[in-house]
Amino acid sequence: MTAQKTVLVIGGSSDIGHATALRYAQAGWHVALAARDIVAAQRNADDIKARTGVEVTLHPLDVLQTDKLADFAASLPVLPDTVISVIGELGDQTRAESDLAHACQIMRTNFEAPSLLLGLFAQAFQARGSGTIVGVSSVAGDRGRGSNYVYGAAKSGFSQFLSGMRNRMALAGEVRVITVKPGFVRTRMTAHLKLPAPLTVMPERVGADIFHSAEENGREVIYVGRRFWLVMTIICLIPERIFKRLKL
Ligand SMILES: NC(=O)c1ccc[n+]([C@@H]2O[C@H](COP(=O)([O-])OP(=O)(O)OC[C@H]3O[C@@H](n4cnc5c(N)ncnc54)[C@H](OP(=O)(O)O)[C@@H]3O)[C@@H](O)[C@H]2O)c1
Repeated sequence: MTAQKTVLVIGGSSDIGHATALRYAQAGWHVALAARDIVAAQRNADDIKARTGVEVTLHPLDVLQTDKLADFAASLPVLPDTVISVIGELGDQTRAESDLAHACQIMRTNFEAPSLLLGLFAQAFQARGSGTIVGVSSVAGDRGRGSNYVYGAAKSGFSQFLSGMRNRMALAGEVRVITVKPGFVRTRMTAHLKLPAPLTVMPERVGADIFHSAEENGREVIYVGRRFWLVMTIICLIPERIFKRLKL
């Protein structure tokens, strides 16, 4: 009998984290949820247990308390086989243009904190010789746009961090690093936005794509939904003199 594997989902209160954890539980994995909002994470844990019978453990964590990240990683009862960060905050672009504290929180939440935490797991996985790291970034990181460049720049930094770590880990044996770039996903984060239906997916789709990519040897950089790869390729090809006239 093979030992049950463990996935740690950081951001266990989120819709995408919930759907991803459920996908792992359906495959028989033990699930650990790290979350700041432990009540919401408990709701997700109860739902996963009710649907799959899998036990879910909860681990309180505020990722912005970066001086406590090492203690958090060391305190886990087992080093997970896979760690997934879905941490993020969309924030308010207009407010972030003049409220530096808000801009700083968006930058730290989307870039600094998840990068530092996943970097710690990279060290531990390298020492063990195995492990999979998944970072949920965003298509918003592919090109800075006037409507959300504080969030986008932070996601861009996170994508580049994951890229560099993947490059480094390729020489370190069995450690994989996966970058996930969702486009539009119907979640709490986007509940106030009018999203174009043909380009919008549900969180379950993100969970399924993450599982395939991380555990079934799928690609290491993925767009969810896939049409966004084409959309972002076109957006990245638009010359700057035209791009700056577009209200994107
Ligand atoms: N929805 C989309 O269209 C979309 C598109 C592209 C990328 N993404 C990315 O997908 C990921 C999941 O987003 P979602 O749509 O599922 O939205 P969400 O439900 O708002 O998820 C964001 C998660 O980040 C957590 N978080 C934020 N700051 C934290 C902190 N300081 N400490 C601990 N946890 C913190 C939130 O915890 P709390 O519950 O405590 O606030 C929540 O669990 C994010 O990285 C987001 O940027 C989403």
